[in-house]
Amino acid sequence: MKKLIAPSILSADFSRLKEDIQAVEAAGADWIHVDVMDGHFVPNITLGPIIVEAANRSTSLPMDVHLMIEHPDQFISEFVRAGADLVSVHVEACVHLNRTIELIRKAGCQAGAVLNPATPLESLDYILEYLDLVLLMSVNPGFGGQSFIPNTLEKIRRLKSKIEASGKPIRIEVDGGVNQTTIRDIAAAGADVFVAGSAIFGKPDYAATIRELREQIEE
Ligand code: DX5
Ligand code: ZN
Repeated sequence: MKKLIAPSILSADFSRLKEDIQAVEAAGADWIHVDVMDGHFVPNITLGPIIVEAANRSTSLPMDVHLMIEHPDQFISEFVRAGADLVSVHVEACVHLNRTIELIRKAGCQAGAVLNPATPLESLDYILEYLDLVLLMSVNPGFGGQSFIPNTLEKIRRLKSKIEASGKPIRIEVDGGVNQTTIRDIAAAGADVFVAGSAIFGKPDYAATIRELREQIEE
C-alpha cells in the first residue's frame, strides 16, 4: 500500500487554520488528521464538527477524523456530514464497538478502530474484518509534542502479521511522536499512514519537512 503522510492539525496555527491546511496540502500531505477531544475521554478539549466542516472546505485532501470522545455513536453522522472521509473510534470508548463501526460504514464513511498504547491487539480479534484501518496510538492521547512510546514498534509488527493473515486491505496508521528520528523504524515495522503534528506544523518549510519524512519511509 502507498505510504501516506497525515499532518495532525492539533499542532496547526488555529488563528490561520485555512492557510496552514492549504500550506501542508501544497507541501505534499496526503490526508488531514483531525483530533477531536471532549475533555472526558482525554484530558483536553479541541474541536467539533463545525471545525471539521471548515477544514474540509479548505482542502481537497481526505479528512481523517480521530474521535477521542466518549459515546462516539452520538456524533458519527454529524462528523460524516461535516465531511469526514474516515472516522476512527477508540475501542476503549465503545461499549458496542461492532455497532459503532457499522454506523460509520452505513454512513458511507471508512471506519477505523484506535488502540491506546496499553490496549492489547486482542481487542481487535472480532472487529478487524470490518475495519478499513487500525490506528495505533504511540503516545497517550490528548496532546501533541509527546515522545514516541518504543514498544509500539512490536505492536505494529504483530498487527501487520494479523492483517496479513486476514487477507484484508486494512491500513495501519500510527499516531504520536512520529518525526524525522522515529518514522523510519515505524515504517519498517509495517505502518502505512503516518500522523505527524509537531514534526510538521511550526516548521519553517513544510515541503522540505514532508519530503524528509517521505524519504525515510520510501526506502
Ligand atoms: C494525540 C493526537 C495526535 C497528536 C500527534 O492525542 O491523537 O494526533 O496530534 O501530535 P504529535 O505528532 O506532535 O505527537
Ligand atoms: Zn490523532
